[in-house]
Amino acid sequence: ITTNEGNKMLEIKDKNGENFEKKKLNDEIKIFFTDLDGTLLNSEHKISKFNLESLKKAKDKGIKIVIATGRPLFSAESIIGEDIKKTNLSLIPGIYLNGCITYDCNGNKIINHIINHKLKMEIYHFSKKENIIPYIIWYSLEKTFSFSMNDVIKDYMTVESITPEIIDDNKFKDIIIYKVLICLNQKNLNHVLKLYKNEFSHKINVANTFKTYIEMFHHNSNKFEGVKEICKSYNISINNALVIGDGENDIEMLQGVPNSVTLSNASDKVKECAKYIGPSNDDNAVHHVLHAFIDL
Ligand code: G3H
Ligand code: MG
Repeated sequence: ITTNEGNKMLEIKDKNGENFEKKKLNDEIKIFFTDLDGTLLNSEHKISKFNLESLKKAKDKGIKIVIATGRPLFSAESIIGEDIKKTNLSLIPGIYLNGCITYDCNGNKIINHIINHKLKMEIYHFSKKENIIPYIIWYSLEKTFSFSMNDVIKDYMTVESITPEIIDDNKFKDIIIYKVLICLNQKNLNHVLKLYKNEFSHKINVANTFKTYIEMFHHNSNKFEGVKEICKSYNISINNALVIGDGENDIEMLQGVPNSVTLSNASDKVKECAKYIGPSNDDNAVHHVLHAFIDL
């Protein structure tokens, strides 16, 4: 697919290569959960005009629109807050930090899962031993932290334009952490992913969420836990939910609902987990998916 036009409808196919048809839907769509990076945002980390207009049209039709992201709320706010406000959409309710923080429509935290102190320190000591501390960003609910500023962290700040507070061991002991993000590259990603999965995957989620980043977050949290809670709070069945996402942190929610779409830019591992595969994030996938599943 090379087109970047929003008005030419691009195909959404199932795993047998059959085109999606609305008439095959068993239940109408009442709520739409969308991932941010690699999904709603294009490679320039922006929401396209087509995606934004379609979200607005869906909202005007009474469809609930919910962001489900690995980012914290303050990061989503800084990257898409303006667009959301000018189209009358809302970042609340929402699934943040991979579901570790999930807000209902009144802004109440219906899921709130931190990384406990003991585990935080274990990750720290292991990372120190492996010389990985300089590549880590630690996430609290209000801000990000790192132990130094360097080119790797600066490069990550082109994705998430939040400047981490530089901390030392003493300060680190006192902060409440929800997510650990490790910034890697094509050469070391697989090695480091294996290293952390071997060491920690029995007590914390370890996932390659986006590009060459690894995220770790509470064992019992994932975006699907957020999807279920938000659906429950609206009294909507998950059969009426539509989910779209591109990363390893989307797998549970893609598998958990009957109607899920991943993008052509997703990895093969993620493509295995979704019911349908749509266009890429640079081809306005959200816009095409909304038009395919809902009468806009
Ligand atoms: O920076 C990467 C994000 O934490 C992953 O975000 O879940 O919206 O793709 P996403
Ligand atoms: Mg993503």
